[in-house]
Amino acid sequence: TRPRIVVTRKIPEAAVEILREAGDVWSPEPDRQLPVEDLHRAAEGADAIVSTLQDPIDAGLADAAGARLKVVSTVAVGYDNIDVPALTDRGVVVTNTPGVLTDATADLAFGLLLAVTRRLGEGERLLRAREPWSFQLGFMLGSGLQGKTLGIVGLGQIGQATARRARAFGMDIVYSGRRRAPEDVERELRATHVDGDELLRTADIVSLHCPLTPQTRHLIDADALAAMKSSAYLINTTRGPVVDEGALAEALANGVIAGAGLDVFEHEPDVHPGLLELDNVALAPHLGSATAETRTAMAVLAARNAAAVLAGDEPLTPVKG
Ligand code: GLV
Ligand code: GLV
Repeated sequence: TRPRIVVTRKIPEAAVEILREAGDVWSPEPDRQLPVEDLHRAAEGADAIVSTLQDPIDAGLADAAGARLKVVSTVAVGYDNIDVPALTDRGVVVTNTPGVLTDATADLAFGLLLAVTRRLGEGERLLRAREPWSFQLGFMLGSGLQGKTLGIVGLGQIGQATARRARAFGMDIVYSGRRRAPEDVERELRATHVDGDELLRTADIVSLHCPLTPQTRHLIDADALAAMKSSAYLINTTRGPVVDEGALAEALANGVIAGAGLDVFEHEPDVHPGLLELDNVALAPHLGSATAETRTAMAVLAARNAAAVLAGDEPLTPVKG
């Protein structure tokens, strides 16, 4: 019998074609986020599940799918929604999509960095409100980047790509994280490894690129924000819960830090109402990897991963269990 492949959300046609060659593809019609009971029902008898970061992938789902399940392939680099040990214990391979979204995500991080330091959202709101304005030497001054220090929390692929952009803007790089980057990467980026406290104290802009794990949940809390310079900015393009969003809203309202650029939120799709009131925050609705090219590349890689496992081959980009 042909493998049953469950695709939880609509994905680009190029990826669906790869999956159709590997088995019978089911996905919800019309496209919608399946509530967990519907997801479990849909998963019954699946050999492969192609999922997104909104699907809770855990023991319950694996049990609902049953003994045929061989692979869960998430169309995302982050896999904090997946209980990897629960799946690997059941012999299920988990794969993600690193690499193909690195540049798109770093571009978005830099876009938010520019948006908040140069007050682009605030300026646009002013024009759209049809407020009077005129060019003046002291009008809407932002903060320049040249000679400033970018603090990268987590110098993985996306952190490195963000640092590379910052170097082109004349910034200095420090980074923190459990893992030291390879020496050639440190040399290329002239990136200095520091501990987390020193990074918070010295960076003019702090950009988060660590995965969400139990250790990084609320890494940026009220104490961390208080340790930052009052002139500093925070950029988050990884996962919302790395930041205590209530503490951030309070810090921004009280001038504890100068501003923030946020692509991700603690309780998506909700945004802390305090943040929506503030002009010194640039906001985007989780668009890090949202280019047509990148989303197609992610879905195609996810489809290839699933097809490889179904064919008995090694997946291209497995998550290490
Ligand atoms: C997006 O947030 C991803 O993890 O790919
Ligand atoms: C993964 O791509 C990372 O940035 O660590």
